Amino acid sequence: MNLSNSFVSWFRNSSPYINTHRNKTFVIFFGGEAVLADDFEHHVHDFALLNSLGIRLVLVHGIRPQIDERLHKLDLNSRFHNNLRITDDIAMQCVKEAAGTARVEIEALLSMGLANTPMASSQLNVVSGNFVIAKPLGVIDGVDYIHTGQVRRIDVEALQQQLAAKNLVLVSPLGYSPSGEVFNLSAEQVATAIAISLKADKLILLTEQAMQQPDTETPIRQMTSEEADEFLHQHTGLPLLMTLPLTAASQSCQAGVKRVHLLNRHIDGVLLQELFSHDGVGTLISSKPFEILRQAALTDIGGLLELIKPLEHQGKLAHRSREKIEMEIADYYVLERDGLIIGCIALHPDLQAHCGVIACLAVHQDYQGAARGQRLFDYACQQAKRQRLTKLFVLSTQTAHWFIERGFLPAAAKDLPDGLKSLYHSERNSKILYRDV
Ligand SMILES: CC(C)(COP(=O)(O)OP(=O)(O)OC[C@H]1O[C@@H](n2cnc3c(N)ncnc32)[C@H](O)[C@@H]1OP(=O)(O)O)[C@@H](O)C(=O)NCCC(=O)NCCS
Repeated sequence: MNLSNSFVSWFRNSSPYINTHRNKTFVIFFGGEAVLADDFEHHVHDFALLNSLGIRLVLVHGIRPQIDERLHKLDLNSRFHNNLRITDDIAMQCVKEAAGTARVEIEALLSMGLANTPMASSQLNVVSGNFVIAKPLGVIDGVDYIHTGQVRRIDVEALQQQLAAKNLVLVSPLGYSPSGEVFNLSAEQVATAIAISLKADKLILLTEQAMQQPDTETPIRQMTSEEADEFLHQHTGLPLLMTLPLTAASQSCQAGVKRVHLLNRHIDGVLLQELFSHDGVGTLISSKPFEILRQAALTDIGGLLELIKPLEHQGKLAHRSREKIEMEIADYYVLERDGLIIGCIALHPDLQAHCGVIACLAVHQDYQGAARGQRLFDYACQQAKRQRLTKLFVLSTQTAHWFIERGFLPAAAKDLPDGLKSLYHSERNSKILYRDV
């Protein structure tokens, strides 16, 4: 494939994701280490790009190394208990300075409209404010955390107003109490609380290291929140760089955030690769299994057509109009992955004859060869049993052997029950196969 072909194909492949993500709310967390890194401006350009694609963005930044550095300059040590900073008066002064400086630097990068950056011609408004209401953590196990606080609530209405006005919201890990006090908060907790309160579509945590199996170092691609909890329970010696994001991810999913992505921030363009390519590059935590096989709904028709039209052009599937699919939508089952339809099957029953026809079996080409076709077929067989069908037919031009390997035998058009004969089009000259359910 030459360069222009690969560009065109890349752009086309990304477009379903652009449509899927538009008007969705994403909360993105990154630590103070990311802000200090040389390549931080690449991330900032990607944030701006997401904003320009119509994604409602809340950015939450950390400041741990910046606070440590300030304390170090004062010849003071950072004090922690249970991985949380004990913020005394001097540490609090460092927190305020670090938060202010980091915020101004991020805002400056987001305002950079230079012609030779990906943000050329874009206009982006950044808003920060008192969106986080906090309370003191207090004294725990005899340890007084002083100015370290915890989130009490998020001013959701104020955040929503800013997002509705297409502003990008930037939040520092500080919280304010109604009595006017300021508290130092964990940035991960702030991001989690905002994602939960906003019912965000995604929480994205840019992490310092990739999530991987400790024994084999194989990357962890996806987990349900239950599996993440089990993983944390089984591997007690994991580094904090893994346990903090995994815990935040699991908590958010359990509180209603649909998807949490843990992305290694050292990978250039990691956000774009994760959000606009088929398989992504990070770890996805979701409350439900990542791929769902379910009955199709009318809202799936756009995705279904996108999947089957190319196969119709190749002659692998018979032509179906939108109206026909709409009328028969109750016969369709779809495999949904991260909001996209990647597989489908139809079971057209003739309940009187106790027979059915399997049709429109398709798996998106990027996902073939991993038993998804088999899964769809098994599901259709279960539905057939539920409907008390005893015999299944299939009409196939190019996939007969796939079905023969699954126990189908040759049949003729006359064997089709009357109620299903109209599905056979002699001009397609499909092979007719049948199998007992
Ligand atoms: C047929 C199809 C649904 C299988 O999806 P899948 O997720 O790859 O299926 P599975 O992973 O369960 O099965 C893969 C196996 O089927 C085989 N296979 C794929 N297409 C085949 C075909 N046309 N004929 C025979 N075998 C085929 C693969 O080689 C693989 O076998 P292998 O592992 O021994 O090499 C998919 O290839 C597809 O969408 N094809 C285009 C649409 C189509 O032809 N639909 C059938 C209409 S009747």
